[in-house]
Amino acid sequence: MKIRPATALVGHIGVPGDKSISHRALMLGAIGEGQTVIRGFGRSADTEATASALRALGVTVVDDDVDTVRVEGVGLRGLAGPVEPIDCGNSGTTLRLLAGILAGQSGRFELTGDDSLRGRPVDRIAVPLAEMGARVETAEGLPPLVVEGGSLRGIRYELPVASAQVKSCILLAGLYAEGRTIVVEPLPTRDHTELMLAAAGVRVTRRQSRVSLGPVESLRLVEVDVPGDFSAAAPFVVAATLLPGSSLTIHDLGLNPRRTGLLDVLERMGARITAFNRRHSGGERVGDLEIQSAELTATSVRPDEVPRMIDELPLFALAAACARGQSTVEGARDLRVKETDRIETVTTSLRALGVRINPSDDGFGVRGVPTRPKGGGMSSNGDHRIAMLGAVAGLVSREGVEVGDAQAVAVSFPGFFELLDSVTQR
Ligand code: S3P
Repeated sequence: MKIRPATALVGHIGVPGDKSISHRALMLGAIGEGQTVIRGFGRSADTEATASALRALGVTVVDDDVDTVRVEGVGLRGLAGPVEPIDCGNSGTTLRLLAGILAGQSGRFELTGDDSLRGRPVDRIAVPLAEMGARVETAEGLPPLVVEGGSLRGIRYELPVASAQVKSCILLAGLYAEGRTIVVEPLPTRDHTELMLAAAGVRVTRRQSRVSLGPVESLRLVEVDVPGDFSAAAPFVVAATLLPGSSLTIHDLGLNPRRTGLLDVLERMGARITAFNRRHSGGERVGDLEIQSAELTATSVRPDEVPRMIDELPLFALAAACARGQSTVEGARDLRVKETDRIETVTTSLRALGVRINPSDDGFGVRGVPTRPKGGGMSSNGDHRIAMLGAVAGLVSREGVEVGDAQAVAVSFPGFFELLDSVTQR
């Protein structure tokens, strides 16, 4: 798909419901009591993977509307083992969080996924689940992952990598474990699981870098209003910042501070972004964002900032390419095990467009110039965030960008190009 240069982004938009929260609402709804209605559900290939995995486990998941889903809870231990492997598609969140729940069920479950997911590490969950007493097998640290539920015991686990998926997997298994389950994080990661468990009646104790819970008899969500996905809004935030004359408002957006690191970094670079209508919904912070274009100066992203903007680092690279001076990212080695090796895919695709970016072991360095990059061709390599990076690069380029496998956006945001078109001025 060819993305032509644009002059500005102007208008008012809403983005799909948060993907992380949508996955969690489906899963907690499934093991809850009674019915859960999820409004503002972020429908995408990834969240559909969770819905169909739950259906394969005997849960009734009904699409009441495009963005309203109803889940009939089967109770904490009510999931039934399918004989077939469960296909999690491209979705690491589906596989890693579901594994925690399945560790508490009786039966043997096999979780697998597409080529990308089968290349991503699951030893990071297999190790703590085995320590809790589940029987877990992997293909040398990779999917398929086989979990045989058993009687679990609580553990204290220090995460070797900052990962919300791993933290969530252990906490979900902890619902079934005897004694307390304690997770210690090296750096704060997204806390949607903790917030939703609390909303479902679970007593979650939280201190700085430590989360703990004990076993429960039942949980009950009833309804979840999913705010807009900050990660889906991020391409619009960066494009509106970089295109002079832009004025864009994004409504009803999730503004959980553990997700919005990109805003802090962009503001430090000189961006003009205002949050207003701030409110709370189901324990999550929500608000509207207004973005005016601005000239940016370079900055360094520190390792402690990385988890709060992990999925936005590809877009940061593009912002840095258009900012005056040398920018760097350090402490982001986990980018190498995302849907693609994003240190590799970000640097090769932006280089092909004329950006001076160099990879390092755990990040990248960008020599930014406050002019439009030339443009050219690149491929998403099947990675939704790289496809969106290509689209924004095309808008801010001089000659446009041909994005190969642009349809990968459907993994998280099927209507991305239509929405982008609706606010693009040329
Ligand atoms: C997610 C956590 C992050 C993120 C992913 C979604 C989640 O992964 O990259 O897109 O929903 O918990 P890690 O926790 O493995 O860093």
